[in-house]
Amino acid sequence: MHLTVTPSDMSCGAMVRGADLSQPLTSAQAAEIRDIWLKHQVVCFPDQALSDDDLERFTLAFGPFGDDPFIAPIPGRKHIIAVKRAAGETSPIFAESWHSDWSFQATPPAGTCLYGITIPPEGGDTLFVNQIKALEQMPDDLRRRIEGRKAIHSAKNAYSPKGMYGAGDTGRSMDIRASDEAEASHAHPFIRVHPETGKESLFGCAGYIVGVEGMAQQEAWDLVTEVYRWQTRPEFQYRHTWQKGMLLMWDNRSTLHMATGGYAGHDRLLHRTTIGSA
Ligand code: SIN
Repeated sequence: MHLTVTPSDMSCGAMVRGADLSQPLTSAQAAEIRDIWLKHQVVCFPDQALSDDDLERFTLAFGPFGDDPFIAPIPGRKHIIAVKRAAGETSPIFAESWHSDWSFQATPPAGTCLYGITIPPEGGDTLFVNQIKALEQMPDDLRRRIEGRKAIHSAKNAYSPKGMYGAGDTGRSMDIRASDEAEASHAHPFIRVHPETGKESLFGCAGYIVGVEGMAQQEAWDLVTEVYRWQTRPEFQYRHTWQKGMLLMWDNRSTLHMATGGYAGHDRLLHRTTIGSA
């Protein structure tokens, strides 16, 4: 396996050719891909033909499976969810807001793998923002205000019965199961040191972040939204355009991402796994 890595001309992201991920990776190959992933944060492997077994095996080469709450796995699998939308669906696009996957968990996942099965002819790009660069370039004054502070993360705005994907969310083809468990919260530092690279990064954003420890709600929300406006700026973004057979893996510890629409009238289907923190 000789890998060719082509970095994107955006803030992060790289295309990797030369891998056949339908075959098991040796430990040396997995280590090489891990280095590329940690360096570029979002890595795309085009032209793959992967079964669900292959997707699971690839995921497990980088850590244990993460725990995926609130979305039922596809039949016959415990660790694969379908990110899907039918051509005629009119409910809001799934995940069309910035987030780091499951950042409300006590131990959020290290990464996510997403494999393109049915890709619309236009639209449906996935956007990323590089949170290492966003922090490096953050104005000192804003950084001082979050330094040493912990943000409170919760899934309640999305997955509680009153949330975006709760009782009022009808006509969706994804099997989302809202629950009162979404009311739980966990605090994480705004600025975290990446456990593998040692680099500092912003972690998470408004949406799953619902407050700041030790701060009154209005003051907290003003701070969280100010950070949000900074950390999602266009200069920190990478836009990923899909093709069928692409496998994307991203680092949830140093990026945010969001889905986009623009493919009304077309089906879209991707299979997703999460890489847990080791
Ligand atoms: C996700 O957040 O996992 C979904 C991304 C997408 O549908 O593009």
